[in-house]
Amino acid sequence: MYITDENDIEILRDLILSKKYFRNRGKNITGFCNQFESSFAEKIGVKHSLMVTSGTNALICALSSLDLSEGDEVIIPSFTFFATAAAVIHSKATPVIVNIDYSLMIDPIEVEKAVTKKTKAIIAVHMDGHPCDMNALKKIAAVHNLVLIEDVAQACGGSYQGARLGSIGELGCFSFNVDKIISCGEGGALVTNNRKYFEKSLCIQDACCSFGPTFKESFIEIQPFVGQSMRVSEISGALMSVQLTRLDFILNGLRERKEIFIDVLKRNRIDTVPSHDETGDCATSIYLSFPSVQDAKENLLKLVKEQIVAIPITIRPAHACWQWMHLLEKERPNGNYKKTSFLSSIDLLMSTLKINIPYEMGLNEVEEYAKKISQVINR
Ligand SMILES: Cc1ncc(COP(=O)(O)O)c(C=O)c1O
Repeated sequence: MYITDENDIEILRDLILSKKYFRNRGKNITGFCNQFESSFAEKIGVKHSLMVTSGTNALICALSSLDLSEGDEVIIPSFTFFATAAAVIHSKATPVIVNIDYSLMIDPIEVEKAVTKKTKAIIAVHMDGHPCDMNALKKIAAVHNLVLIEDVAQACGGSYQGARLGSIGELGCFSFNVDKIISCGEGGALVTNNRKYFEKSLCIQDACCSFGPTFKESFIEIQPFVGQSMRVSEISGALMSVQLTRLDFILNGLRERKEIFIDVLKRNRIDTVPSHDETGDCATSIYLSFPSVQDAKENLLKLVKEQIVAIPITIRPAHACWQWMHLLEKERPNGNYKKTSFLSSIDLLMSTLKINIPYEMGLNEVEEYAKKISQVINR
């Protein structure tokens, strides 16, 4: 989360005093969650948006709305937060993990190779704000009749060839936990143009939603079924309504800083990982690319010595499949979870260092910071 100010406090203060925490739905019902969902759908460029309690639950809604059965397969990348795989397990299917491409996002060539008769969906995860190769993934999904889901947890507001991430696949899943660009502490949202998936998700997120006054208008295409409890309160709706108004402002600030950063790095002949859409990248971070794992390690030590925060991507244990596959093995003993299948991902990720874009710095400061990093690396 980048910005909180008096507006967050004011909206919460009024809500607390009103005691109207419960989220009501319906045609003529106002309220913060309703307001956020319609603004968010408009911002992302889709027909439907649904708030839930987390990004993981948004993924569970999306996958469960596909009616998957045991033995069905869902393709996911080797570089993603464990929640992507966990959501597949909760939808009864088996996660099939594939390697990443040069951009560190899911590799469409590997996806194509992994498709079997049992494959039902692909999850494109836009890690650290970087868009996946959506044209290639869309093509594969169309040829094999698969559902393309976007995990946009780390890339809210980003875009690919002009379309906002989350609007390109059939379903988009966002997280609003505290590490994300806009946040209400914990939260998430699902977006889709598909009315059927939306209605199913509505049912999944609230076991009792078919008993409310809006039952008839909510369910046009499906019969309600037994769901769970992923409802959010108006507290989340209120905070997200305010946070959303700042999304593009934050992205502009991040992109402005990243451009300066990249410029300095280029002038100093320091390589960065290429993106499938440089302008659509959320610019929350820069991936510094080194010729080898050893090079990355040496530069990490140099940067740390100068108190520069560079993050080896694989240091985050929940983000690299070889660190979490043992949990999948227990659930899906027939899954193919061998570390040796991911040597190319390991090599790519370990040759990369991540630097967060310092949003709090002024533009001149950013330039100085980038110059310092360049000097340390070129030393
Ligand atoms: C790529 C990715 N997918 C899914 C999630 C899950 O979101 P949440 O923590 O809101 O459940 C996260 C959270 O960080 C994530 O980074």
